[in-house]
Amino acid sequence: MIDKKFVSVLILAGGTGTRMGKPKQMLEIAGEPILFRTIRAFIDTKHIDEIVLACDKKVAKKVRAKFKNIKICDSGNTRLKSLQNAMKIVAEKSKIVAVHDSARPFVDKKDILAVIKSAIKHKASVLGAPAKNTIKEIEKDNVKKTLQREKLYEIYTPQCYEIKTLRRALEKFKNNKKATDDSSLVEKLGIKIKVVQGSYKNIKITTPEDLQIAETFASKGAEKVSKTRVGLGFDLHRMEKGRKFIVGGYEIKHNKGLLGHSDGDVVLHAICDAALGAICAGEIGLYYPPTDITIMGISSVVIAEKVMEVLKSKKAKIVHMDVTLIAEEPKISPHYNEIRKSLGKIFKLNLDDVSFKAKSYEHVGAIGNAKACSAHAIVTVEIK
Ligand code: CTP
Ligand code: MG
Repeated sequence: MIDKKFVSVLILAGGTGTRMGKPKQMLEIAGEPILFRTIRAFIDTKHIDEIVLACDKKVAKKVRAKFKNIKICDSGNTRLKSLQNAMKIVAEKSKIVAVHDSARPFVDKKDILAVIKSAIKHKASVLGAPAKNTIKEIEKDNVKKTLQREKLYEIYTPQCYEIKTLRRALEKFKNNKKATDDSSLVEKLGIKIKVVQGSYKNIKITTPEDLQIAETFASKGAEKVSKTRVGLGFDLHRMEKGRKFIVGGYEIKHNKGLLGHSDGDVVLHAICDAALGAICAGEIGLYYPPTDITIMGISSVVIAEKVMEVLKSKKAKIVHMDVTLIAEEPKISPHYNEIRKSLGKIFKLNLDDVSFKAKSYEHVGAIGNAKACSAHAIVTVEIK
């Protein structure tokens, strides 16, 4: 009940799908028949008191096996006849009827309630949305006139009425053959019909292309669009004799190396911080505090693996990285490719998605005098 009024939904499913090339009711979208999805949209909507379905006997059998409490009548050979049949079995106490095409499975619950409430207030109300295309009247393949788009709405279903208003229209125009919807009959009675703007997703599956659109709407991926985030990382380590020079998980033979609790891999540390930054998950110090003696001498690849786990737990995936190492020595450019390969392996990326380069510091300051190396990284992640 809405506003103490008994609400009946009439789902018309008697069409033969001429434009689809076959009947549409049982065609599956993401594994579920169109008609079942449509019925579910109303079952899942609160305040609806009965669902009446007009369809052929074969379809009726399948619906009965799946749903309880649905009143079913035979469909007719026109949409109007199917509607007339459905109206014959509507509950006596029904006050508001919502007529819906079975071929519109993506109708939104909020829109259903909005159009019903509007009909309670205004006697007759339909869902619709502004026309997106310019629409022209044509005659024998020639344009006769261009209609003013701002004034045009595509009209959807449900189309809702006070039951007595619809009964009056159906009685007066019972033999109408032209109307493609019921609201045009109510309109002919001279009754004002309110248009409630609804979602563009409420398409009528009509031609084969619509099935592809419907698949997209129905797939979970359509609702969960992935987000792209970028993170920035920086690190610096002193250089010291007797240490290994390891950058990006790759060792370059040199007489000095990077000092740190771990192997001092300044490149991996900058990348890890950037990746954590992209998902707002802190920085590597949170996971491996410098006071933790168990990390003494560990390979930074272990740290990178931990970061990859954190990313996974947040449904995030690195898709690209761009790294700059700032080092006066050793010469890095001969090792670019090996370092990129190493990074690709550690972070599970194709070589095309790993950028690595090095710069010197022109003998300026600690880095320029080979007392330290630093690295900057930008990492892009996709989050599902
Ligand atoms: N309908 C109905 N009874 C009919 C004809 C149509 O109940 N005799 C229903 C359809 O099942 C559909 C809606 O009315 O849910 C109108 O949509 P439409 O796309 O016209 O469906 P079809 O008539 O099946 O398709 P076509 O016009 O291409 O033949
Ligand atoms: Mg039709």
